[in-house]
Amino acid sequence: MLLTLSVWIQNLSFFVYLRSSAYLYPVILALHLSAISLFGGMVVFTDLSLLGWTPRQISAPAVIDSLRVPKRVGFLVAATLGFLLFSCKAEQYYYNVYFRAKLLLFAFVAVHALVFRNRVYNRPGELMPAGAPNAQVRFAALLSLLLWAGILTAGRAIGYVLAPRGLHFL
Ligand code: HEM
Repeated sequence: MLLTLSVWIQNLSFFVYLRSSAYLYPVILALHLSAISLFGGMVVFTDLSLLGWTPRQISAPAVIDSLRVPKRVGFLVAATLGFLLFSCKAEQYYYNVYFRAKLLLFAFVAVHALVFRNRVYNRPGELMPAGAPNAQVRFAALLSLLLWAGILTAGRAIGYVLAPRGLHFL
């Protein structure tokens, strides 16, 4: 079912065109990486501020408030470009163990958001009154850093797996 869907997506004329373009595919990959570096920087900065590892003048609530919208935009751009990359060779990525690991880690990120958004990220001021994070805040921030590092690593590793033979590219 998922495999059939992957073959169908990659053979839509738009993705056939993207895949065979000498410039567009690499440009999308470069933009995916650029969006990730901007978005990743904001995630890291947010989590470091929650851990109290940023300069004292920079308060975690201020960082979280000011980065909330740009972080969402950055994620949306990176994810959209990632989806375009995926759709060009969906069948190949379907078999790729690192692509599967990356998707699994995204599911964990979603669970992390469900658990900690209201408990930590929406009320850091209450949880670290003197600027010192409690155990829950530290755990949420460290776990977030770990999950995003895993996604970056899995994303990079995707390209090291050889494509299987007999793929159904048009
Ligand atoms: C926003 C969070 C994301 C991060 C941090 C991330 C991370 C990465 C990284 C580090 C690479 C390696 C680029 C390189 O080869 O140098 C990559 C490539 C890729 N990503 Fe993402 N990605 C994200 C979102 C997505 C999404 C949502 C999808 C698909 C639904 C996706 C699909 C891909 C694909 C297909 C590649 C190309 C792999 C290859 O053929 O080498 N990414 N990503």
